[in-house]
Amino acid sequence: MIRILGIVGSPRRGGNTDILVERVLAGAREAGANAETVYLGGLTVKECDGCHACWQGRECTKNDDMNALYRAINDADALVLGTPVYWYAPTALMKGFVDRLVYYNCDRNRGGVRGKKAAVVVPYEEDDQATASPVVDFFVRSLRYLEMELAGTVVVGGMARKGQVLEREDALLVAAKLGQELASGRGTVKAI
Ligand SMILES: Cc1cc2nc3c(=O)[nH]c(=O)nc-3n(C[C@H](O)[C@H](O)[C@H](O)COP(=O)(O)O)c2cc1C
Repeated sequence: MIRILGIVGSPRRGGNTDILVERVLAGAREAGANAETVYLGGLTVKECDGCHACWQGRECTKNDDMNALYRAINDADALVLGTPVYWYAPTALMKGFVDRLVYYNCDRNRGGVRGKKAAVVVPYEEDDQATASPVVDFFVRSLRYLEMELAGTVVVGGMARKGQVLEREDALLVAAKLGQELASGRGTVKAI
């Protein structure tokens, strides 16, 4: 059974990121996958300082919740990464998490992510599509560096209020479809 790990980088539970990531995972479950969500806001993920103990086969010296997350990522077949736009960037929670993926920048650990698919979910408030571009580009480049495959994007503007994405049936459908495709091992890039 395909295992999918959703990672919510918004500190706001029940917000637009949470809803969209959950829709992707619900689509994946409908298609037979096992899917679970991790809320970065509920975890301690300290900053990477580049000590590279992880490259020597040792546990991260930060000794925080990221060690369990590495195991969860290694066990997953695909990731769903969600963050709202905060000041034309990912949230500090998501950036701190991706910084810690330096763990995979060595032959010893790279197999934990190489070739795996990842979907990206990005709600934001403004109507200008360019607002989300730096965040999408951040994921495109980081995933490529990690030899992961971008399976699809759900990028939804105009999301000013908590839960507002529930009014966007088109976005919810695209999210669920992306989850189905992840579960079937396929995936096509879609943007809203
Ligand atoms: C600290 C902060 C910074 C934000 N910066 C931007 C921004 O630069 N551009 C934008 O369009 N929306 C911005 N927003 C709005 C959020 O991206 C938007 O409300 C999003 O839907 C929130 O998702 P959530 O409900 O998952 O937290 C910001 C919100 C916060 C709290």
